[in-house]
Amino acid sequence: MTDQAANLRRDMNRIKKNKQAKTISVVSGKGGVGKSNFSLNFAITLAKRHKKVLLFDLDIGMGNIDILMGVQPTQTIVEMYEKELPVYDIIESGPYSLSYIAGGSGLPELFQMSEYKQNYFLQQLNELLVSYDYIIFDMGAGASADTIRYILASDESVVVTTPEPTSIMDAYGMMKHIYYYNQDILLYLLVNQAQSTKEGEQTIKRLQQVTKRFLQMSITPLGILPKDKAVSKAVLSQTPFSLLEPNAKITRALNELAEHYETGKFESGNNGPSAFINKLIKFVKER
Ligand SMILES: Nc1ncnc2c1ncn2[C@@H]1O[C@H](COP(=O)(O)OP(=O)(O)O)[C@@H](O)[C@H]1O
Ligand SMILES: [Mg+2]
Repeated sequence: MTDQAANLRRDMNRIKKNKQAKTISVVSGKGGVGKSNFSLNFAITLAKRHKKVLLFDLDIGMGNIDILMGVQPTQTIVEMYEKELPVYDIIESGPYSLSYIAGGSGLPELFQMSEYKQNYFLQQLNELLVSYDYIIFDMGAGASADTIRYILASDESVVVTTPEPTSIMDAYGMMKHIYYYNQDILLYLLVNQAQSTKEGEQTIKRLQQVTKRFLQMSITPLGILPKDKAVSKAVLSQTPFSLLEPNAKITRALNELAEHYETGKFESGNNGPSAFINKLIKFVKER
């Protein structure tokens, strides 16, 4: 590790406070499974439950949280590091005081920035950890060498799949990849676009069987969300489905999922103060 990284880590530890946001990355093997719609509506549902939530669009080159919300971001993550703006300047506000950071275009360069800019970025991220209850990263499909660090540094990772066999195989590949580098992360499985509860349960069972058999690894089912026309309707009207269709089947399922998630029926994946930022430094600096 370089001196600069050691200094940074020391600074981070000095300013660390007791309360640290739980960091959650939302990932999938295959694209178009519903990560962005889930990330956005899960974030809104937690915000409705009076939690301070920051949604961070990290889908490289394809960031679309702002499109799903029908807003035009004034600043994005790209401006933050180019102009060295304080992170608070690029945070936009959404429904129920949800905060979000738009991806913007040109995001690929973000991951190839100089050490000085990387340190600046990490310091800004560290600031955020004390200000929120949850920070949710909406990731792109698959895992590029650049984005995997955010996934690996997160306290928890939600792997999204549909019941389609190809999606299940890709989800398995993603889990295997994450698990290879980080056995401490709490891996959740979310089945989206299920035609029935039975189909959702079968999908969970199949993935649990293969991960147990081939990786000796256990995954935690986060829930099952139905295939629902409310989603495409919401996408078309650029309004999150949980707001446009509060009584839709999928919104009710998501409310239940959030309730279950928050009442702590799952084990906690947060391994202590500053775990996220220290792991991120490790993954960024020790490539
Ligand atoms: N539960 C669902 N029911 C019906 N359609 C869905 C559902 N989830 C996602 N979709 C459809 O899939 C498309 C892709 O969703 P999106 O959240 O952008 O996926 P990703 O971020 O994984 O690429 C949406 O535009 C919507 O039409
Ligand atoms: Mg997406």
